[in-house]
Amino acid sequence: MPVDVLIGLQWGDEGKGKIVDVLAPTYDVVARFQGGPNAGHTLTFDGLKHVLHQVPSGIFHPHIINVVGNGVVLDPVVFRQELQKLTDRGVEWRKNLHVSKKAQLILPSHRALDRLNEEARGNTKIGSTLKGIGPTYTDKVSRVGLRVGHLLLPDFETRYQETVARHHQQAAFYASQQVLAPEAAEAAWHEEVTAKEADFFSAVEFLRTLQLTDTEYLLNDLLAQGKRVLAEGAQGSLLDIDFGTYPYVTSSSTIAAGACTGLGIAPRHLAKVYGITKAYCTRVGGGPFPTELLDETGEQIRQAGREFGSTTGRPRRCGWIDLPALRYAIMLNGVTELHLMKADVLDSFAEIQVCTHYRLSDGTLTLQLPDPGDLAHVVPVLQTLPGWHTDLTQLTEYNTLPANLLAYLGFLERELQVPIRIVSVGPDRVSTIVLS
Ligand code: IMP
Repeated sequence: MPVDVLIGLQWGDEGKGKIVDVLAPTYDVVARFQGGPNAGHTLTFDGLKHVLHQVPSGIFHPHIINVVGNGVVLDPVVFRQELQKLTDRGVEWRKNLHVSKKAQLILPSHRALDRLNEEARGNTKIGSTLKGIGPTYTDKVSRVGLRVGHLLLPDFETRYQETVARHHQQAAFYASQQVLAPEAAEAAWHEEVTAKEADFFSAVEFLRTLQLTDTEYLLNDLLAQGKRVLAEGAQGSLLDIDFGTYPYVTSSSTIAAGACTGLGIAPRHLAKVYGITKAYCTRVGGGPFPTELLDETGEQIRQAGREFGSTTGRPRRCGWIDLPALRYAIMLNGVTELHLMKADVLDSFAEIQVCTHYRLSDGTLTLQLPDPGDLAHVVPVLQTLPGWHTDLTQLTEYNTLPANLLAYLGFLERELQVPIRIVSVGPDRVSTIVLS
C-alpha cells in the first residue's frame, strides 16, 4: 500500500492542516515527518477552530493512527498543552498517538539559543518563530542532541544537564564577543531556561506516559498490512533547508523526499504528492519575496485572508501567486495534484495578477528560481486576469463556480502542468470543492 505525501509549495501557511483533515477519512495513518512547534495547522469543523502545532492533523478521526516521526523536533511542554486542549474538547487521543523514540527533544535552552542567535544576526534576522527549531536540529546534526528515547534511560537528567551546560557556554560566547550585552544574554537565558525547567521536567514526566515507539517499524508493519499512510508536511518547500531561500529557511527537509528520512519509509512506497498552494502568496519572517505587495492591495489580501500567524500572531507578508516559485516546488516534490487554498480571499478583486516570469537584473527573462541572493533583485513579470466578483464561500459544487475562476484555474493548470483537484473556499471542512 502506498504512502501519499502532503506538502506546502510556498513559504508555509498554505492550509495543509485543513486538507489533511479533509483527506483523513480515506487514510489509516497520518504521520508528521519534520518541523515542530514552529508549525500551526488550523482545522475548522462543527463550529470550532483547532490549531495543532506538533500533533498530526488526523487526531480528530478515531480510526486514524497518528505518528510523530523521527524527523520531528518535539517540545514536551507545547505537546502536553496541545494534548490537554484536545482532552478538554473530548478528543480521545491516547490510544491513537505514537511518538518516535528517535525524534529530537527541544529543551528550554534551545529556545533561549534561538533567541540569542537571532539577536546576534542584527539586520539579517531570519524571523524565526523562536521555538528552538534551529538549535535543536543543529544539535541533532552535531550528534549531541537528546532524543525522545533518551527519556527512558536512567541517566536522562545527567544528559540534560550536560546539554544545558554546553548551551550555556554558547550563550556566554555571545556575551564575550559583545554581540549582546552580558546582562541581556544572562536575562534571556534565565527567562528561557532556569525559570522554565520545572515545567519542562513535568512535561517530560507526562511524555513518558505516552506510546514512545520505534515508529519506523510501526509504519512499515502497517504498510505491510495494507494500511494507507498520509505523510503530513509542515512549513513549505521554499523554507526547505536545501532548496528554500537560504538562509531564510527553516532547519528541516520540508519537501516530499523528507517524508522518507523523517519517517523511515523507503522511496518506493511513495505514490501521490499533494501540493498545497494559496491562490496568492504569503510569507512570515525575513527573506526574498518577489511578488510581495507593500501597498493597499497587500493589506487588502492580509485583511481578507486574516493573514496573521497561527503560531506567533505576526502579520504575514502578502503578494500575488508566483509561478516560477511554484514550478520549482512542483519539480522538487514531484507533485501529482494541486490543491488551491483560500480562493475566496480574492472574491472582491476586480483583477488578479499572476507572476509568470522573473526579469533578472541584466534584463533577461527567466522561468527559473535564481539563487536566493539574486531572487531579492528580480522583478516579477505579471499577467492580469479578470476577477470573479462572486461570494465563493456559498458554493459547494464544481459546476456552480464562476467562469472567471474557472479561467484562473485553467490558466494555472496550463502554466504549471499539474491538475488542480481541490479548491478551498473557506476555513471550514465543508468549504471544499473537489474538481473531478
Ligand atoms: P524557524 O523554523 O522557527 O527557525 O523559522 C525559520 C523561518 O521559517 C522563519 O521565517 C519563520 O517565520 C518560518 N516558518 C517556520 N515555521 C513556519 C510555518 O509553519 N509557517 C510559516 N512560516 C514558518
